[in-house]
Amino acid sequence: MVKAVRGMRDILPRDARLWRLAEDTIQKVIASFAYEEIRLPLLEFTELFARGVGEATDIVEKEMYTLADRDGDSLSLRPEGTASCVRALEENGLLYNQSQRVTYAGPMFRYEKPQKGRYRQFYQIGAEAFGFAGPDVDVELIAMGAACWKALGIAEHIALEVNSLGSSQARIAYKEALVAYLTPLKTELDEDSQRRLLTNPMRILDSKNPATQELLQLAPKLPDFVDEESKAHFQQLQATLDAMGISYKVNPNLVRGLDYYTHTVFEWVTQDLGSQGAVCAGGRYDGLVQQLGGRNTPAVGFAIGLDRVVLLCELAQKTVQPAADLYICVLGDELQSKGMILASQLREQMPQTSVRLHMGGGNFKKQLKRADASGATWALLYGEEEAASGELSLKHLRDPSVGQVKLLLGQVAQHIGANS
Ligand code: HAM
Repeated sequence: MVKAVRGMRDILPRDARLWRLAEDTIQKVIASFAYEEIRLPLLEFTELFARGVGEATDIVEKEMYTLADRDGDSLSLRPEGTASCVRALEENGLLYNQSQRVTYAGPMFRYEKPQKGRYRQFYQIGAEAFGFAGPDVDVELIAMGAACWKALGIAEHIALEVNSLGSSQARIAYKEALVAYLTPLKTELDEDSQRRLLTNPMRILDSKNPATQELLQLAPKLPDFVDEESKAHFQQLQATLDAMGISYKVNPNLVRGLDYYTHTVFEWVTQDLGSQGAVCAGGRYDGLVQQLGGRNTPAVGFAIGLDRVVLLCELAQKTVQPAADLYICVLGDELQSKGMILASQLREQMPQTSVRLHMGGGNFKKQLKRADASGATWALLYGEEEAASGELSLKHLRDPSVGQVKLLLGQVAQHIGANS
């Protein structure tokens, strides 16, 4: 039997129900902020990510699934959604003299070392706002995240960290100072950090290596390089978060792994998923649109890691709807087609109720066992007696006090409604 590719998971029916609940909940919250859906391709020219996310980032350097198209073009499976989103809006003229607030969802691909909470195909729901320079929209996006955690019932598992990276000039100045400080100490750095010193020095701040962290104690500090305008932006952001009662921690080491960020960056983190602590991450990327060939456009956004959100929902023991609400048991082959008609009629009468028709025969006892195992609340029994009398037997499978009653077809919806 051919197996699934490493790091690419099947989401099986029992788990997919929780996934659906999480996706629906998040998407409802995002829609309540009036962000509009955009659907983006899975494949883009490799150049988009090389220029957008950054040549020297881990993602572009070693994690992309890149393939040659038949005509020799280099294409990559998207490792994230922001660059595609910018490309799509710019290509379609939707950033010209107008602002946009959009949301997207779907699988992303990164060749990372798989472990719990980290996969090679993973799922994001993102939100991006274009054309707003002030910190109010940064806060709107953070508030949107907070509303998602609340709606999912996982708010107590997640904390917010924020930082400001300053303007791109401030970043460049800081990078130079950091490299000047670390270069003489190079041999004392961990292997990854030694490599990053040449390619992406700010990521060294992220290092988990204790010796490297020790060396960083005396390193130049990013906040000392942040320009006045960016400082004011960050202060106003914090004041608005305070006013909204959203708690946060300023983490000066929060630098993010993608090159496009400027000013505000933020991460929603959890302690409950081992080393894969970031559940949602984002920030401002005011230079990206221009860098990809468009006009100077302020932009900010985030992406939620759905795989991790679902793991947290499991921890919070989120209960999900069973596959079926009502299970129809039909006794006798001759009644099977009548049972099918009955199921159609009930679905029409109660569009919110999922109706599963038993198949494969067997006596009522066996069928009721299946009904019970399906998680359904109700079983409807349809045998010779019911067919003759026109009355159906409806049984509440979870509450003996409601028990079993005989009803005409037209009364079923009302009985279910009154006892739900
Ligand atoms: P990112 O930090 O690379 O940012 O990813 C965002 C979130 O996706 C992470 O916080 C994490 O929850 C989830 N994630 C990333 N990699 C994996 C993986 N291998 N397995 C499971 N989950 C993963 C971005 O992608 C930016 N585009 C976010 C953004 C939007 N910034 C501005 N707008």
